[in-house]
Amino acid sequence: MSEETLSNLLKEDRRFEPPAEIAEHANLRAEAYDRAAQDPEAFWAEQAERLSWDEKWDRVLDWDDRPFAKWFVGGRLNASYNCVDRHVEAGRGDKVALHWIGEPEDDTRDLTYAELKDEVSKAANALTELGVGTGDRVAIYLPMIAEAVIAMLACARIGAPHTVVFGGFSSEALSSRLVDCQAKVVITSDGGYRRGAAAALKPAVDEARAKSSAQGHTVEKVLVVRRTGQDVEWNDDVDVWWHDAVDAASTEHTPEAFDAEHPLYVMYTSGTTGKPKGILHTTGGYLTGTSYTHWAVFDLKPETDVYWCSADIGWVTGHSYMVYGPLANGATQVMYEGTPDSPERGRWWKIIQDYGVTIFYTAPTAIRSFMKQGREIPDRYDMSSLRILGSVGEPINPEAYIWYRQVIGGDRTPVVDTWWQTETGMIMISPLPGVTRGKPGSAMTPIPGVSAEVVNEAGDAVPNGSGGYLVLTAPWPSMLRTIWGDDERFIDTYWARFRDQGYYFAGDGAKKDDDGDIWVLGRVDDVMNVSGHRLSTTEIESALVSHPKVAEAAVVGAKDEDTGQAVCAFVILREEAGDGGEDIVAELRKHVRQEIGPIATPRQIMIVPELPKTRSGKIMRRLLKDVAEHREVGDVTTLADSSVMDMISEGIDSGKAED
Ligand code: WT7
Repeated sequence: MSEETLSNLLKEDRRFEPPAEIAEHANLRAEAYDRAAQDPEAFWAEQAERLSWDEKWDRVLDWDDRPFAKWFVGGRLNASYNCVDRHVEAGRGDKVALHWIGEPEDDTRDLTYAELKDEVSKAANALTELGVGTGDRVAIYLPMIAEAVIAMLACARIGAPHTVVFGGFSSEALSSRLVDCQAKVVITSDGGYRRGAAAALKPAVDEARAKSSAQGHTVEKVLVVRRTGQDVEWNDDVDVWWHDAVDAASTEHTPEAFDAEHPLYVMYTSGTTGKPKGILHTTGGYLTGTSYTHWAVFDLKPETDVYWCSADIGWVTGHSYMVYGPLANGATQVMYEGTPDSPERGRWWKIIQDYGVTIFYTAPTAIRSFMKQGREIPDRYDMSSLRILGSVGEPINPEAYIWYRQVIGGDRTPVVDTWWQTETGMIMISPLPGVTRGKPGSAMTPIPGVSAEVVNEAGDAVPNGSGGYLVLTAPWPSMLRTIWGDDERFIDTYWARFRDQGYYFAGDGAKKDDDGDIWVLGRVDDVMNVSGHRLSTTEIESALVSHPKVAEAAVVGAKDEDTGQAVCAFVILREEAGDGGEDIVAELRKHVRQEIGPIATPRQIMIVPELPKTRSGKIMRRLLKDVAEHREVGDVTTLADSSVMDMISEGIDSGKAED
């Protein structure tokens, strides 16, 4: 981000006081900041008390073997019991856990906590029957249907770590994850509904299974939910229908207590190299962190609130704030299968109206796309039930913040801009709706219990009014424990940069304003943020280079009005490919879609004769970014060949580019 944009951002002087109503009954008050800072371990122990433990811990934190943390050492619990059974036992079995809403109209399903308990128990029994034991990995590749939640909780119940793969990912992306975590079973469906049509999922699983076998890994069983009723290829040795296996299973299932550090799940996310990182979260600390933050940051009143997080279950937001946080807290929530514009553009607002949603959590990219459509659409609906709005995934620009607050929130609702990551597992920096004077564009301060700082290269805190690197200076319960199967990469990626200080480096740049409030500015590494999702430049480059016509590729994230950043690729073709043919750009875009998935599809591909490199051969992405963002190209003095940028500009002018 340029200095100019920075100073514009920091001139923001609008402030929003917490509404008196919310302040008066707030779950978490201002006093919590000091209390947590004085004795963080005591504070976290207090938060862990909101869970049911079969055995209490002997030690809150073991940080002796840094950066490998252990939280609630010696404690034992079952995550599924905490999310389901205990609410039923407490007499809340008839309370709705999930208002599931399918994309086709009138296709809905309400699940009470008692019903959820039965479904999860049956699925747990069915998985055991299929040979899944404690510690075995189960991959879940499902659309946004209730079975996705049931499947996750069933895995947690039997101590089988799940890895949920976003349904929009390709078979290639799925198979690399299956192989990396050696998944024994995959849970999928025939398909799901998106934009009014049935989209298939099962064929991608069949392909991924074949690709995994070619790499020596066998997926033993595939459990298939019937959602759309479309035809599927069937292999009797491997494929099992959910309605056969689960519906026939018993609703009796006794959850076993697992160690607090038992692996709960692996979630893959992009890093600076091509290979996705399997972020490992464990049980006790993760559940403590997600339930605490869901209660504190959204001021959840489980008896009266109707909560809705629009994220897909295939991302960490879906894990922490659709499954584990809200269910551990006994919340009633909405889960919606489809796209916001199906069958018409007011679908989301209609859901808020019809279900009386009180807390709504979404991403800036969605807010910006609604802004573009105009306020007439949301204005048709009564959204007066809303009391708190949340934002996550990327910086929310002040304009979008104001629109969200005014148009969706009727100018009553606080907006909590929540900063966190797949790795942190829980919200780390955010306003508290009953305490903080909201400032459009700023995630404000670390929440009670969390310690963050903005530091310079040397690791020293920068003064107010300056920028630097965002770091977390103390461990937190839901922190990632490692990268699945790669402790070295875990250390190198997160803990090496500020080794002396022992800080966790998040990969984001940030600025502290004159009040000391934090403005997260975006990634400082080779990672992009497209529509709130992390994509690595290298991953897309590898996909491009795997195309037979491509010799070399460089990818940058360029500013995009709708998606925050968009993928822009610069490609050198192989000599034998000539000019690549007329459809080369379309061909390459399709190739990336197949290799990774639609979200990685480049907005723009430029066929160029050369790439700008330093004398040591490092691609100067900064210069490519200038081109992609239509700026004057910056300092080229460290280029090995200074004429390269002219060649690139000429190549673009000659028309081999597509927007
Ligand atoms: C990266 C993490 C956290 C769940 C969704 C994305 C960016 C996230 C914010 C925010 C500014 C944000 C950061 C972060 N990010 N929330 N409120 N303000 N930036 O999870 O895929 O792990 O991505 O998203 O760059 O490092 P993720």
